[in-house]
Amino acid sequence: MEHSAIDRAAEILMRSELAAIPTETVYGLAGNALDENAVAKIFAVKNRPFFDPLIVHAGSKEAFEPYISEWPEAATLLAERFWPGPLTLLLPRTSLISDLVTSGMERVAVRVPNHRLTLELLSRLSFPLAAPSANPFGYISPTRPEHVAAQLGDKISFILDGGPCTVGIESTIVGFPDGVPTIYRLGGLSVESIEEVVGKVEILQNPNRSPGAMAGHYAPTKKLLLGDVADMLKSYPNAATLSFKNEYPSPYLRVLSPSGDLTEAAANFFRFMRELDATPAELILAETLPEKGLGRAINDRLRRARS
Ligand code: TXA
Ligand code: MG
Repeated sequence: MEHSAIDRAAEILMRSELAAIPTETVYGLAGNALDENAVAKIFAVKNRPFFDPLIVHAGSKEAFEPYISEWPEAATLLAERFWPGPLTLLLPRTSLISDLVTSGMERVAVRVPNHRLTLELLSRLSFPLAAPSANPFGYISPTRPEHVAAQLGDKISFILDGGPCTVGIESTIVGFPDGVPTIYRLGGLSVESIEEVVGKVEILQNPNRSPGAMAGHYAPTKKLLLGDVADMLKSYPNAATLSFKNEYPSPYLRVLSPSGDLTEAAANFFRFMRELDATPAELILAETLPEKGLGRAINDRLRRARS
């Protein structure tokens, strides 16, 4: 059953069509990264602007050798320590990677995802997979196969069902301008974990041409207000509410982690945003989390999603 699902995904990808694939972070909308037809379909299905480049996925660091011209030492250290895992590296590309994938930039974003089915799938393919998150451009990212089916189901050939994503927020993106490890997007690997390996890192607030880091991303359809939830509920008693660990008197309440665990909060974050967006409430109230560990990445998304 599982094998036949992987076979099916492999066969679809080999004929330049798209399949949704599970990863530990979020579901990806995958196509052959070396085939411009497949890559163009990704942009079309997501309604994604061509200036927003894609992440390329492979099964191991070695599998990237033909596509990367140079590995800064810090990149090698990070890849060896955290791959497979929620870490994307921005590295200089070779000519095998097209301008369409990188939006003309000289560096390509690469990552080895940590999901058993997708690693098995990658081991059967002779090419890497370009895969953005499998949501329409700008909307909440999918962490379950049914999220993909609800939004893109009629536009893609196949969804490889790998269950719920365990990390739940996108990979952390690290580049090395002038050799300095620099975070372009906060994500599922904490800043603290990265700094244990390479020392102090820079964090870019508004990275040039990294639309995943733009305001208005990850946004629900409803208006989202960020602040003191107890206070805001006095003005909007019927609002839907996303809390970190406390109960509030909201008619539609989701508590990210009753025990205050930031990793658990990340795993629930996008699903709860979707569920609150689907309630009859007119708006969503949310509060920021402690600014450490995965709390930073969740706060980053909340700030960009707010109205
Ligand atoms: O966890 C993840 O990273 C997921 C899973 C599917 O791997 N993918 C993901 O892809 O989040 P996407 O397309 O939703 O976000 C990728 C981000 C975009 O904001 C894009 O601008 C940035 O990566 N990016 C990709 N290539 C880049 C490049 N060459 N230079 C700078 N930023 C780049
Ligand atoms: Mg995305």
